[in-house]
Amino acid sequence: MAVDLLLGLQWGDEGKGKIVDVLTSNYNIIARFQGGPNAGHTLEFDGIKHVLRTIPSGIFHKESINVIGNGVVIDPVVFVQELDGLDQFNLDYKSNLIISRKAHVILPTHRLLDAASETSKGKAKIGSTLKGIGPTYMDKTGRNGIRIGDLELNNWKDKYRALANKHQAMINFYNVDIQYDLKEMETEFFEAVERLKELQFIDSEEYLNQALKSGKPILAEGAQGSLLDIDFGTYPFVTSSNTTASGACTGLGVAPNKIGEVFGIFKAYTTRVGSGPFPTELFDQVGDDMARIGHEFGAVTGRPRRCGWLDLVALRYACQVNGVTQLNMMKGDVLSGFKTLKVCTAYKYKGEVIKHLPYNIEEENITPIYTEFEGWTEDLTKMTEASQLPKQLNDYIDFLEKELEIPITIVSVGPDRTQTINR
Ligand code: IMP
Repeated sequence: MAVDLLLGLQWGDEGKGKIVDVLTSNYNIIARFQGGPNAGHTLEFDGIKHVLRTIPSGIFHKESINVIGNGVVIDPVVFVQELDGLDQFNLDYKSNLIISRKAHVILPTHRLLDAASETSKGKAKIGSTLKGIGPTYMDKTGRNGIRIGDLELNNWKDKYRALANKHQAMINFYNVDIQYDLKEMETEFFEAVERLKELQFIDSEEYLNQALKSGKPILAEGAQGSLLDIDFGTYPFVTSSNTTASGACTGLGVAPNKIGEVFGIFKAYTTRVGSGPFPTELFDQVGDDMARIGHEFGAVTGRPRRCGWLDLVALRYACQVNGVTQLNMMKGDVLSGFKTLKVCTAYKYKGEVIKHLPYNIEEENITPIYTEFEGWTEDLTKMTEASQLPKQLNDYIDFLEKELEIPITIVSVGPDRTQTINR
């Protein structure tokens, strides 16, 4: 039995939540392995739209167990808000949602540090979601962090106080104007911790490996996207975890030889929130139309997403780093009605044509080289079979499969669970 992986191949927001939800019935366990409440996984079914932040997207399937792995960072305050949001669905999360003791806790002062750090960067800011992700991972690697397992100890508040005091000194050092009432934030935080403690904390690496031994299939759910990976993304405009396949091994404690299928999720075009390079970004009416038709606004921050053509150089790179075995193309329906579509197949880089992602993809170094495709006008959103897809879309898909040498097994034609075409 293997752990299958589901990962975003671009800058996040590819629609991973929807596909996890669609695939969940094939798995006993859904496990999140990195990131935190900077993620916003949107699911739609039965006319309901719901956004998850930290909780795995399998939560809506009553039979599945949802694991939050050691690689995740958890903000108790956001987490209990998420639990409250689930109340309307009558889910038994005390038994089917379990948390690794080795996951790290986001403290109120981590959020403040995020804000102080971003403010101090001025124009060079990363565009962080300000959820405290970076500072929490810094404390993890700095070996100062508080883990979920610590919350079971009687003296954890002493450790909390020492760390929060240190953070306050750091916030003062930044010398920027951010307004906050730490007392109030702490009251909310301590209350949330007590609620969080009603859930099961486990040694999740042991749990997952035993589950594999007893033949239970597991789906590991990534957050953000490959180009936001701390090592392989567009550094420094990245998040603070390994969003790529290797992050699933370290974020869950499963060995590389236990990984099975790797589902790579990408949009039929490209979007990005936050700052950083984006070679195929559009600044014209076409980009505005993509944003409007695709409802491209951040699920966590509500910020408008930057839009552009599909970038095969970046996608090929992401497929390689992740070892993608199957591709899922999202939001094909958004491209209906565009007269001409473009796909970037190579970059002109310092006078040369290259097909790999170089160290530096800043705008001034890169000119995308495009192949053009005829668009289609048909509305895809009611289609249910691959045979119904228009010829021009099939040409587009065939071209991508040939370039990437990986089959596109799912084409998503709308946000709802049912708007999913298997090929
Ligand atoms: P952070 O992880 O909140 O510090 O944000 C770092 C960068 O990653 C920023 O550009 C964010 O906009 C981006 N980012 C973080 N999480 C997501 C996500 O779930 N989707 C898309 N972008 C994200």
